[in-house]
Amino acid sequence: EKGGYDYFMLKEIAEQPKAVADTLLGRIDLAGNLCLDEVRIPASVLREVSKVVIVACGTAYHAGMIAKYAIEHWTRIPCETELASEFRYRDPILDQRTLVIAISQSGETMDTLMALRHAREQGAKVLAICNTNGSTIPRESDAVLYTHAGPEVAVASTKAFLTQLVACYLVALYLGQVRGTKWGDEILSVIRELSEIATQVDQVLETMEPVRELARSLADKNTVLFLGRHVGYPVALEGALKLKELAYMHAEGFAAGELKHGPIALIEQDVPVVVVVPSPRGRSVLHDKIVSNIQEIRARGARTIVIAERGDETVAPYADHLIEIPATPTLLQPLVATVPLQVFACELATARGNEVDQPRNLAKSVTVE
Ligand code: M6R
Repeated sequence: EKGGYDYFMLKEIAEQPKAVADTLLGRIDLAGNLCLDEVRIPASVLREVSKVVIVACGTAYHAGMIAKYAIEHWTRIPCETELASEFRYRDPILDQRTLVIAISQSGETMDTLMALRHAREQGAKVLAICNTNGSTIPRESDAVLYTHAGPEVAVASTKAFLTQLVACYLVALYLGQVRGTKWGDEILSVIRELSEIATQVDQVLETMEPVRELARSLADKNTVLFLGRHVGYPVALEGALKLKELAYMHAEGFAAGELKHGPIALIEQDVPVVVVVPSPRGRSVLHDKIVSNIQEIRARGARTIVIAERGDETVAPYADHLIEIPATPTLLQPLVATVPLQVFACELATARGNEVDQPRNLAKSVTVE
């Protein structure tokens, strides 16, 4: 059942191009319009939404953090993303015009379920993004957009994450289309680019051998740090979470802009720092800022592991290890940038002799608060 792979996690990482393609299937028509009729919230209601709140836990929360950038950019609706376990306990402000999006692979995570119940009690509409048909979270929501990742067995989430991102982009683009923002042309071009993403994820998977080699060479390290900005920041958090879960290493993700506000004190000789670099096109200001971050940490002895767009020549001189990913629109970059981090964590776990599919102390689905 592992399809020739040693671990379910490896199989699930390899299945990502298909999972992404399946999640898009039937949801974009030939003219590039989104067909999300399955989301049974009428366009008239979506047009009235004044605030979006995303609730989720763990990896699904990181997908939600990325969704916030996409939703606010394409729809101009204010969006906040919150850990489901924190949301309910701070008396959040919700009403009939609030759209709550609950993201969950299993559909059974108790914290997320309690958050959505609370939201519905306040009159908010709840849309679930879920991978498990008929599970509790979609059953208790007003609407559901299923991710079509297929069953995810490994405790560490991989293919579900990529499909959650796809579903979030679809919702963001759909809300943008329904409400007709000034980004109409960009929305159409991103929809086209989304159709290319499965191929690009496949390309990333084909170039992972150096990443595995690098991971093996770091097996005796105690700490790995991750830096990112904009949508690269949640990617950094996700890379760190994978490493904690699988390699039991101290791994922390930071917003690169925060470096000088504290984390730079952690940089010492040989500490591995993974940096997710935004595209030099698009938000190029951020690109340049992150390149200077890389120079700063390298000057202090860090071993820089740089994930950057193929052909980005400005970062290469400062990268001890360069991991190249295909060019994508800025907001879609997490779909390709996360994959090397999954492979990295999986290989480090193996090199450290850890149980990959069943890390210690963890359960696949957390059904208690
Ligand atoms: O089933 P869910 O998506 O609701 O699960 C949420 C988290 O428990 C889950 O993503 C967890 O963080 C994973 N083990 C991460 O790899």
